[in-house]
Amino acid sequence: MLNLIPLPYKSEDKYGEFIINSSTSVYADHELAKAAEAFVSLVEKVCGYRIHTVLSKKAAVKFLYDRVQPEEGYRIECTTEQLNVYASGYTGAFYAVMSLRQLFCMDVPEKPTVLTMHAVSITDKPRFGWRGVMLDESRHFFGAEVVKRLLDAMAMYKLNVFHWHLTDNEGWRVEIKKSPRLTQVGAQRRGTQTLAWGKPNIINWVPYGGFYTQEQIKDIVAYAKARNIMIVPEIDMPAHFAAAVAAYPHLSCGGKQIEPSVRHGDNADIIACAGKETTYKFIYDVLDELCELFPAPYFHIGGDEANKKEWKKCPDCQKTITEKELKDEEALQGYFNNKIALYLKRKGKTLIGWNEILTTDNLERGVVAQYWTSYRDKNVIRHAADARKFIISKHQYFYFDMPYAKVRLWDTYSFEPEDIALSEENSLGVEGPLWTEWVPDEARLQFQLFPRIEALSEVAWSPKEARDYDGFRKRLRKRLVALDRLKINYAPENIWDKRGLAANKINHAFVRRNAHIEYERAMRHRRRAKNQ
Ligand code: ACM
Ligand code: ZN
Repeated sequence: MLNLIPLPYKSEDKYGEFIINSSTSVYADHELAKAAEAFVSLVEKVCGYRIHTVLSKKAAVKFLYDRVQPEEGYRIECTTEQLNVYASGYTGAFYAVMSLRQLFCMDVPEKPTVLTMHAVSITDKPRFGWRGVMLDESRHFFGAEVVKRLLDAMAMYKLNVFHWHLTDNEGWRVEIKKSPRLTQVGAQRRGTQTLAWGKPNIINWVPYGGFYTQEQIKDIVAYAKARNIMIVPEIDMPAHFAAAVAAYPHLSCGGKQIEPSVRHGDNADIIACAGKETTYKFIYDVLDELCELFPAPYFHIGGDEANKKEWKKCPDCQKTITEKELKDEEALQGYFNNKIALYLKRKGKTLIGWNEILTTDNLERGVVAQYWTSYRDKNVIRHAADARKFIISKHQYFYFDMPYAKVRLWDTYSFEPEDIALSEENSLGVEGPLWTEWVPDEARLQFQLFPRIEALSEVAWSPKEARDYDGFRKRLRKRLVALDRLKINYAPENIWDKRGLAANKINHAFVRRNAHIEYERAMRHRRRAKNQ
């Protein structure tokens, strides 16, 4: 059994073992020198010595340029004598290094003098091009160090998209030079709700805030790029926009004076006015700055859960509906989306929105939808038939804020696009969002994500035929040593698949309270076990 997550496209065991010691040498064709250096650094980190790079192809470890390898693919030929890596560039070679990291067991607590791996022949490439994780930093703000550690872990599993939910009702988390009040006012709130809905609301009245400067964003984008990770920012609009409205009340329909939300669910009716040119001007200015910071060819504008009550009452919105001959407020959101989509298109960017953007028919053709709602959403099915592309984040499989008792490891692992009436052709790939209303710190963040992102990575990367849940769990169990070593607070095995709540329970408040209880209980057990 190959101890590797995600499983590669193809592999074949060979006889014997390959050994690295302090006298091992490495050769790299110049196209792959950076990836070879990443390998040398990993060896140094675990063994304490630097294996030397040489100019001779007689070296035992070789990184060889091979233009037939797909961009994200690679080949490893490992015998008792030789370890050869073939790739057509940094991306594939980097993924080969990530595989070698696991195959040589480089994340171990002791300092080994030699590293060994089984001789093997691997041909690898991903199933899906979009292998994502989303982090909500509005509800809780984690900061650059936590984000970088998450990016490190994503790279380990060949996940390549970090979707960054930077704004919501509870806070605006990115500096915009032209609109300084977004962070002066919009990044701060007076307190935080600390227990899940349904209990009496408990508010911790400690001022809470934080945001990324543009310098920090540039640094994180570069950090991600070195790990083959594209960062796609999300500025949620027209709803989930209360932090912006708190900073600039004229952005809303009634010009309301509000504060960023303290209780989750507050400001649910606040919405950007889609009838005023000043709203569009404001958004374009924000996009101008952010498109410079984030080179990704995608931009996420949210678009989810837009309650249109205010639009119904607003003279400006109603006037736009009449003038543009729009059918209703749904069509007004379509008009809003298309305006932004065209603005982004001129900058070479594709708009992404949550699947609620699909309520209108005339949505720009290239726009991508992220599918999270009900089992067989009729708008999703309609647009899929019309060749639209999707990112799949169905909550039943991929909402990692949910308790394991609801989104079991098995649920994530077993996902196939056909199960939700999509096909492989119209799926760019899959993504696991982490909403953070109830995720106040990194320990909880890791608990919700690990090991569900390991399952996600195998869904996203490995061929369907190779996947096997029992085998995955065996490999995962071995991997826990590495997670311990990396100080990742993963969820314990006894809850991975323990069904505690009815699968069809859709009361999210109830379900998320259970996530909190599940976490507290697991941590109590862990503390007790440690003390014994
Ligand atoms: C969402 O969960 N509102 C996209
Ligand atoms: Zn309006």
